[in-house]
Amino acid sequence: MNQIVTIPMANPIHFTQAHLLKPGRGVNATALTNHEYALWMGDVEAFLKALPVEPLFDMIVTSPPYNIGKEYETRVGLQKYLDWQKRIINELIPRLKKGGSICWQVGNFVDDNQIFPLDIEFAPIFKKHKLQLRNRIVWQFGHGLHTQKRFSGRYEVVMWYTKTESNKDTYTFNLDAVRTPAKYPGKKHFKGPKVGQFSGNPLGKNPEDVWSIPNVKSNHVEKTLHPCQFPVGLIERLLLALTNLDDLVFDPFAGVASAGVACAIHSRRFWGCELNEEYAEVGRQRIQAAIEGNAIYRPHDKPLYDHTQSKLSQPPEGFKNGEHL
Ligand SMILES: C[S@@+](CC[C@H](N)C(=O)[O-])C[C@H]1O[C@@H](n2cnc3c(N)ncnc32)[C@H](O)[C@@H]1O
Repeated sequence: MNQIVTIPMANPIHFTQAHLLKPGRGVNATALTNHEYALWMGDVEAFLKALPVEPLFDMIVTSPPYNIGKEYETRVGLQKYLDWQKRIINELIPRLKKGGSICWQVGNFVDDNQIFPLDIEFAPIFKKHKLQLRNRIVWQFGHGLHTQKRFSGRYEVVMWYTKTESNKDTYTFNLDAVRTPAKYPGKKHFKGPKVGQFSGNPLGKNPEDVWSIPNVKSNHVEKTLHPCQFPVGLIERLLLALTNLDDLVFDPFAGVASAGVACAIHSRRFWGCELNEEYAEVGRQRIQAAIEGNAIYRPHDKPLYDHTQSKLSQPPEGFKNGEHL
């Protein structure tokens, strides 16, 4: 039996258009507040400073630049980078609603072949705001650079914090919306009052905190011109669990708006900020396609491709003893 919960698609009549707004005469950041789906093209720090200091967002989710020299960033020393990120987080937290979630998806900063896991570096910044860490989700993926002097990196981390002060404070966590098929749905209680009855939840199991979701490489259906987009499925799972219909989600480093795509598919409102005009325009187009029910994406619960089914997974004659070299 298929145990995956189905979620209603966005209503294309209610949500009609994705907007891309650029700073200019008579246009400032507050213009976004008129729209359900909008991207601001510009620097995020300036953008946030122009917004009212009041709780606006139900969820903030992002993958910031990692300071590793990608085409969209200038590499600086780790401390300078963290100081910049801290200033942005300081602007974000007062604009997050009580009980809201902030998800910061990061990898490693690498210097002199030494790794600095950014979640460790970011933790004191979030701690200062007295947020509560709910999960440190390990996002595991199959492809990337092959390193020669250490093991090849194949995971990144999502730090999920809630704006709560104690366990008495409530926050959104819709577990049933993201359950995944149980390993043994046919398993039954073998003793006790429920003996003979199925022991698992018929909606599936908790997806746990290690998520295997393919990263967006060249042959991925979601691939755009962006060198480092996160997969829509990663954000889809987060927002189905951590937000409700019509909630407002914000991505301060929106790139090609993968988070916006997930929001449009699942009827959450979305604002994003992106410095690069080309990425922002591609992002707007992707959100628009999703609003119209035409999103091209890989859902979070799609089973992984079994590579052993490919002919390419068979070693050619003589491969093992290097005769082909
Ligand atoms: C890791 S990428 C995010 C990709 C995004 N998650 C997606 O799926 O497309 C980080 C993005 O931050 C943008 N960026 C860098 N500095 C910025 C700034 N000061 N203000 C706004 N965006 C910035 C970069 O152009 C880049 O697209």
